Amino acid sequence: MNPYSSTSADQGVNVVAQARPVAVIGAGFVGLVTTAVLAHLGRRVRCLDIDEGRIARLQMGDVPLHEPGLAKMLREEADRITYTTSPTDVGGCELAFVCVDTPPMRSGDADLSRVERAVSALPVGNAPLTLVMKSTVPVGTGARIVQMLRRRGLRGVGYVSNPEFLREGSAVADALAPHRVVIGSDGDDASDRVAALWRPLGGVEVRCDIASAEMIKLASNGFLATKISFINEIANVCDAVGADVEVVARGMGLDPRIGLSFLHAGIGFGGSCFPKDVVALKQLAGNSGYHFQLLASVLEVNELQKRRVISILEDRLGSLDGLRIALLGLAFKRDTDDTRESASLVLAERLVSKGARVVAFDPVVSESPGLGRVSIKIAETLGEALDGADAAVIATDWPEFVQLSDASMARRMARPLVVDGRNLLDPVVAAEAGIEWVGIGRPSMIPVTNSSVVARGR
Ligand code: UGA
Repeated sequence: MNPYSSTSADQGVNVVAQARPVAVIGAGFVGLVTTAVLAHLGRRVRCLDIDEGRIARLQMGDVPLHEPGLAKMLREEADRITYTTSPTDVGGCELAFVCVDTPPMRSGDADLSRVERAVSALPVGNAPLTLVMKSTVPVGTGARIVQMLRRRGLRGVGYVSNPEFLREGSAVADALAPHRVVIGSDGDDASDRVAALWRPLGGVEVRCDIASAEMIKLASNGFLATKISFINEIANVCDAVGADVEVVARGMGLDPRIGLSFLHAGIGFGGSCFPKDVVALKQLAGNSGYHFQLLASVLEVNELQKRRVISILEDRLGSLDGLRIALLGLAFKRDTDDTRESASLVLAERLVSKGARVVAFDPVVSESPGLGRVSIKIAETLGEALDGADAAVIATDWPEFVQLSDASMARRMARPLVVDGRNLLDPVVAAEAGIEWVGIGRPSMIPVTNSSVVARGR
C-alpha cells in the first residue's frame, strides 16, 4: 500500500511524520535543494557527503553555495535535517536520493565513480531501501546499478530513476513547483512511494522504464542547448543582414510549437549541466554506433559563440594588446556563484592571450576562479572594473549590470564601448547615456522603440 495516500489531511500529516527518514547522498547543489524540499514536505532527512569540511559548515548553518532562498529554507527546516559523513546513517532510511556529480571524463563519457562509490557504501541492513537516482547518468546506468546491488546481495534495495530538472539560480522555486516528475522503474512498488512523496508539489507524473527516464533527462538538456545554439546562429546571421534577433526570437516564440523560452541569444551556454550533458548524450550515441551530428554542431557553435566577443572588440579597437578590458560577470549565469564552464572564463583567457589587461567584476564571485596560468584582476565594485577601461564586456546576465546605462558609469571608462554578450542593456537607453553599445545579433543603435526602424547596423 502507498504509505502516503491517506483519506484525510490529518492522517496524511501523521503518516509523513511517522515515516522512516530519507537519505540524500551528496550535499552539492542538487542534494541540498532536495534536502530542503524533502524536509519542507515533513520528512526527516539525513544529508550525507564525503567532504568533512562541507558537512562541518552545514552543521554550523553555513550553506557553501549561492542559491537564492536555499539557506533560508534549510534554516527553517533545520530540525528535520541531519548532516553526516557516515554512510551507515543511510541504514534505516526508506529512500536514498543519489545527488552526486557525474563530471565528464577526457573520453567524453560521464564519470560515474562517485555514483558507484555511493552504491558500494550502502550499508547492508534488513530494512528495505530504495535508491532514487537524481544524478544525471548515461542511459543504461540504472540497469548497471541494479546488477551491482544484486552482486552485493542487496536484494531488498529497490531502484528508481527520478531525474532532476531544476535550474541553478531558481532551484528552490523550480523544485517546489515541478512541471513534470519523471519516475523510471522496473515496475516495483518503490516507484509508487517516490511518486507519492513528490505528489504534494504537483507536476505531471511521467511513469516509465528506467532507460527512458534516463534518456528524458539527457534529451531535455540536449534539446534546450540546441535551441540556444540555434538562436545564436540566427543572431549571427541577423548581425550580417541587419535584423534584430530579440524581435525575431519573440516573433518565432509566440508560435506555441516553438515557445518563447531559451531563445535568448548571447555568448553561449555554460554551467555544470548543458556542456557536460550534451557531450554525454553525443558520446552515448557514439558508443552505441550512432553519430549524433546535430549535437556535434550544437557544441561547435557554442564554442565559437564564446569567442565572438573577441572579433567584435578587434573590429572596434584594433589590437587588444595593452588595452584594459572590464569583464563583467564570472558566473555562468545570474543568481549563482558557479563558474563551471562559464563563457566568461574562456573570454578571460582569450583576452589575456591577446595581451589585454582584464579586470573582472562579479556581484557574488569574489575570487579568481581556476584560470590556469592566466591571471586577471578582480575588482570589488562595478565602478572599479570600469575605471579607465577601453571596453567593457557583459558576460553574465546579472541585473546589476543594467547600471552601465547610467551616464556616470560610462564616464569612468576611457572609451565607453560596451559589448553586451547577454543583450542585457536597452540599446536606446545605453546610446542616450553615451555608450557605444554592441549586442549579439542586434543593430548597434535603435533610435525609436518601433523595432522596424533601425538606425545603424554593425
Ligand atoms: C539546466 C536546465 O535548464 C535544467 O532544467 C537542468 O535541471 C539543469 O541544467 C541540470 O541538468 O542540472 P542550468 O544549467 O542551471 O539548468 O541553467 P540554465 O538556466 O538552463 O542556463 C544554462 C546556460 O544557458 C547558461 O549559461 C545561460 O546563460 C544559457 N542560456 C539559457 C542562454 O544562453 N540562452 C537562453 O535562452 C537560456
